[in-house]
Amino acid sequence: MRVAVIGTGYVGLPTGAGLAKLGHDVTCIDCDRAKVEKLRAGEVTLFEEGLEELLKSGLESGRLSFTDDMAEGVRGVQLVLLAVGTPPNLRTGQADLRYLFGAVREVAPFLPSNVVVAVKSTVPVSTGDEVEALLRRLNPGARAEVISLPEFLREGYAVHDFFHPVRIVVGTESLRARELIRELYAHLPNVPRFLFVARRSSEAIKYASNAFLAVKIHYINEMADFCEAAGANIHEVAQGMGLDSRIGPAFLRPGPGYGGSCFPKDTKAIEHMARKLGVELSLIRAAIKGNKKRRENMAQRILREVEDIPSPKIAVWGLAFKEGTDDCRESPAVEIVQRLTSHYVDVCVYDPQAMTTARRILGDTVRYAPDMYSAAQGADVLVILTEWPQFDAADWKRVASGLHSHHILDFRFFKKR
Ligand code: UDX
Repeated sequence: MRVAVIGTGYVGLPTGAGLAKLGHDVTCIDCDRAKVEKLRAGEVTLFEEGLEELLKSGLESGRLSFTDDMAEGVRGVQLVLLAVGTPPNLRTGQADLRYLFGAVREVAPFLPSNVVVAVKSTVPVSTGDEVEALLRRLNPGARAEVISLPEFLREGYAVHDFFHPVRIVVGTESLRARELIRELYAHLPNVPRFLFVARRSSEAIKYASNAFLAVKIHYINEMADFCEAAGANIHEVAQGMGLDSRIGPAFLRPGPGYGGSCFPKDTKAIEHMARKLGVELSLIRAAIKGNKKRRENMAQRILREVEDIPSPKIAVWGLAFKEGTDDCRESPAVEIVQRLTSHYVDVCVYDPQAMTTARRILGDTVRYAPDMYSAAQGADVLVILTEWPQFDAADWKRVASGLHSHHILDFRFFKKR
C-alpha cells in the first residue's frame, strides 16, 4: 500500500519506518527541510531504541522516503496518516490544533481521490468531523474519508510497541476504511486486537486511557506519601495491590510525578473539553493539581536536606521525563532542577541520553557531568529523578566514596542505598 505520513516526530517517524518494514511504500512528509535531509541520510533526529536500524533498513529497501513537498509526498497514496504535534495552549490547557489544520489545508489540494485520511495525532473529540468538513470544502473531488487511528506508542519503546500493539483502535463507520487499516497491519508478527468504534469514541479512548494512567500514577504517589508517614513500604504495598488482576501491577511505580508530551497535555486537554461541556472530571482535576504539587514537594524535600550546609552541592541523576528517551518535555526532573537552581544551589546533572535536550532548557544554570559517578563526586546529596536502570544498578561503593556525605534521595526506586 502507498502511505504518506505527515510529521516525523516521536510518533510519525517510528510509524513511518515501521510501516515500511511491514512492506508498504511510505513517504514521510515534514516541513522542516533540514530534518528531511538528515533523515534521508539515515540520521535519526531523536533517541528511540532500534529506530536508527529501522530507518536505515527502510531507506535501503527503497520503501521509505522523506520529502518536504506535500504534492510529491501524497501522490498516488491510498492512506495519509496525520501525525503532527498537538501541543497544549499554555494558558488554557486546550490542545493547539494549528499544526494539524495547517497540514490539512496544505495537503487538501493534492489528495488523490478516495483517499483515507487517518488522524493519529491526539485530538479533541469531534476534531475528525472538523477535518472531514474542511477537506470536503477544500477538495470535494477527493471524497476523502477521515478516520481516527489513535497512537498508543510509549516513548523509549516506540519501535517495540509499533510491532506489538496491545490494541489498534479504529474510529470510523466506513467498511472500506476498516479493511484498509486491517490490510495496513496485516503483516505484524502477531495478529493485533482491532477495535472498530465510532470516530468520536476513538478520539475519546485516547484521552480516557492516558488520563486514567495519569490518575493511577497520582494515586500511587499519594499512597507513597501515606505509606512513608505510616511506616509501610510502598513497593510492598504496590506489589500486593498489583497481584489483584482487577488493579494490575502496571503504573504503580511511585516517583516525582508523571511528565512527557502526553499525560500532562492530555489530562489538561480532556479537563478543558469537559469544562466546556459542563461535565465535572474531579479525579483528573485532582491528578493535575497533585502532579504539579508533587514536583514542588520533591524540590522542597531536597532543599530541606541541605538547608544546614553552607554552599551545598547537589548531584542529580536523570533529566529525561522517564527512562529510555532523550525527551525532556514536561520532565519532573528538569522542573525540580529549575526549582533548586532558583535557590542558588550548585547542581551537577547527568543523564545517559537527555543532556543535549536538557541543556536547551537549563542552559548554564547547572554543571553537566560526563558520567553518573563524576556527577556525584563531592556532592552533599545525590538525587535520582529518572528511572534509568543503570542508576539502580550503580556501583554504590564507588558512589559512596565520591559523595561528600552519604545522603541519597532516590525518588524513583525508593531503595535504601
Ligand atoms: C504515554 C502512554 O503510556 C502511551 O500509551 C501514549 O501513547 C503516550 O503517553 P509516554 O508518555 O511515552 O507514553 O510514557 P509512559 O511510559 O506512559 O510514562 C509517562 C510518565 O509517567 C513518565 O514520566 C513516567 O516516569 C511516569 N510513570 C509511569 C510513573 O511515574 N510511574 C509509573 O508507574 C509509570
